[in-house]
Amino acid sequence: MKRFAGKVAVITGAAGGIGRATASRLAHEGATVIATDINTTDADQIEKELRTFGGRGRFATLDVTDEDGSHDLIDDIAATEGALHGLVNNAGIGDLRTIEDSTKATFDHVVGVLQTGAFLGMKAAGPTLKEHRGAVVNVSSMFGIVGTAAVSPAYHAAKGALRSMSKGTAVAWAPEGVRVNSVHPGFIDTPMLGGADDAVFAPVIPMARLGSPSEVAASIAFLLSDDASYVTGAEIACDGGYVAQ
Ligand SMILES: NC(=O)c1ccc[n+]([C@@H]2O[C@H](COP(=O)([O-])OP(=O)(O)OC[C@H]3O[C@@H](n4cnc5c(N)ncnc54)[C@H](O)[C@@H]3O)[C@@H](O)[C@H]2O)c1
Repeated sequence: MKRFAGKVAVITGAAGGIGRATASRLAHEGATVIATDINTTDADQIEKELRTFGGRGRFATLDVTDEDGSHDLIDDIAATEGALHGLVNNAGIGDLRTIEDSTKATFDHVVGVLQTGAFLGMKAAGPTLKEHRGAVVNVSSMFGIVGTAAVSPAYHAAKGALRSMSKGTAVAWAPEGVRVNSVHPGFIDTPMLGGADDAVFAPVIPMARLGSPSEVAASIAFLLSDDASYVTGAEIACDGGYVAQ
């Protein structure tokens, strides 16, 4: 069943592990996917992948911290596609600095990409999403729910903010028919994790293995789809049981 036939979705950070898997998943299910990233290295290949499923998907360069760029992208999609039904705020950077090693500049940079970037995405896409009763999925982290000394205060702050910003926006936009939810990946085998192997993480994960980008993509696709038509302000931990401990 093609859950996204006739639908148009934008994904940020779509050149990376989770974003690229999500772009493929949505395109496979019939969506026209606008895959965006600041990293343009694989742009042609990504565009080719999206079109193998028969859609009109494409790659667009976008730095999520660029407010004008976000608005221009949404305007362009409205002009070319005539609609926008889904937004996945996924772009991200890792940060392992301790609070002692963090500066205001490094803190602001991480929050700027992870948190402000998602805010700008929702702000730009909001009017079009309302017009088409669309949905937003914000990709947070299990470290938006629980703490660890292994990642930075800025990463925790931004991912926690994404969680509550999703809930607040869900309540604000519910009357206008736009659903907003968050996904909280655990340790996922992507470039962000730097090629870590199962053996390092297995002991702290109930399911004793890393997750794959396609497993997170499946949760994102569910929340974006009409299968989740009565789900808003919710969070899915896609983490092998980590936050359940
Ligand atoms: N991999 C994990 O273990 C894990 C766990 C929890 C949450 N997450 C979150 O999942 C999301 C995707 O991460 P991933 O693991 O696929 O990492 P990744 O590094 O493979 O992908 C992140 C992508 O975001 C892009 N990006 C970075 N800054 C950007 C900017 N300013 N504008 C636009 N694009 C930008 C990068 O170029 C990259 O393609 C991130 O938000 C991350 O914090 C990942």
